[in-house]
Amino acid sequence: MTILLTGAGGQVGSALVPLLAPLGTLVALDRSALDLADEQALQAALRQHRPHLVINAAAYTAVDQAETDTATAFAVNARAPAVLAEVCHRQGAALIHYSTDYVFSGSKPTPYLETDPTGPLGVYGRSKQAGEQALLESAAPSLIFRTSWVFSRHGHNFLNTMLRLGKERPQLGVVDDQWGAPTWAGSLAQATVAIVQQALAGASSGLSLLEFFQTHRGLYHMTNQGATTWFGFAQAIFQHCAHCQARLLPIPTRDYPTPVQRPANSRLDNQRLALVFGVRLESWPQALLHCMEAHPALP
Ligand SMILES: NC(=O)c1ccc[n+]([C@@H]2O[C@H](COP(=O)([O-])OP(=O)(O)OC[C@H]3O[C@@H](n4cnc5c(N)ncnc54)[C@H](OP(=O)(O)O)[C@@H]3O)[C@@H](O)[C@H]2O)c1
Repeated sequence: MTILLTGAGGQVGSALVPLLAPLGTLVALDRSALDLADEQALQAALRQHRPHLVINAAAYTAVDQAETDTATAFAVNARAPAVLAEVCHRQGAALIHYSTDYVFSGSKPTPYLETDPTGPLGVYGRSKQAGEQALLESAAPSLIFRTSWVFSRHGHNFLNTMLRLGKERPQLGVVDDQWGAPTWAGSLAQATVAIVQQALAGASSGLSLLEFFQTHRGLYHMTNQGATTWFGFAQAIFQHCAHCQARLLPIPTRDYPTPVQRPANSRLDNQRLALVFGVRLESWPQALLHCMEAHPALP
């Protein structure tokens, strides 16, 4: 099996590389090898490698920057998935794509279901929502995994920011009225690969890889279990960082203004993932522990 992975240099992409490599021939392309905003390059890469499975871990994830860089955000998050879906359908390939809690407004008081109406608050959320829609309207055998608050020791994310500021600042105000599930890129990679392995095992029981994806196509929420606020997440991070001395202060969202409003409730209900695939990610504190064990915070 040939697997083509986009965004191989990102948090989720780089966690996927070592887990996908044993499954077949892995073509792992980071942004320098494949720019998703370049439609011709995207088409050419799919023609050249003729993958059986495409995993799209690339995305324009700069939430505030997307407000002024709308065309690029839509090219990468909406147009590129549409092209991937069209070519995968034509070439007979399966497709895995990731999306975000930011497709929701956050006004629902309980965890969001896959069937809940979307209502993004900014350009990033709208571009990701358009990407989802393109896949759902296409005939491509595709799975979309919506996740939230992704962290790893690699790249720009809340975990690495807290580990840095915790050493630099005497005190830190952190938002305590937005709720969500911090989700480790390693957990997302493990869950994704578990589902790919089910698809491959299906081949031995008469269901081909494509039939497996066709049977189960659609949207799934995929986050670590449990929920907290950014303040709660920061407190947990500091428990893994002996050198983080900053005093943490809980603050309301209005005291930390950003160009784009964030959903107050980012919680995603993971029942569908458990029911269909029997996959349940570990709790976010366990995932944080595993992440920090793999890459401890150095002085
Ligand atoms: N990060 C989060 O908190 C979060 C939350 C919910 C959902 N998600 C979703 O989860 C998925 C994985 O995100 P992540 O957390 O791994 O984000 P990430 O660390 O920002 O990785 C995204 C990768 O995409 C690459 N990329 C950006 N523009 C590109 C382009 N034009 N062509 C090719 N590659 C490009 C980036 O390259 P550069 O590093 O060179 O820019 C980066 O390596 C995405 O679909 C994202 O929307 C993320």
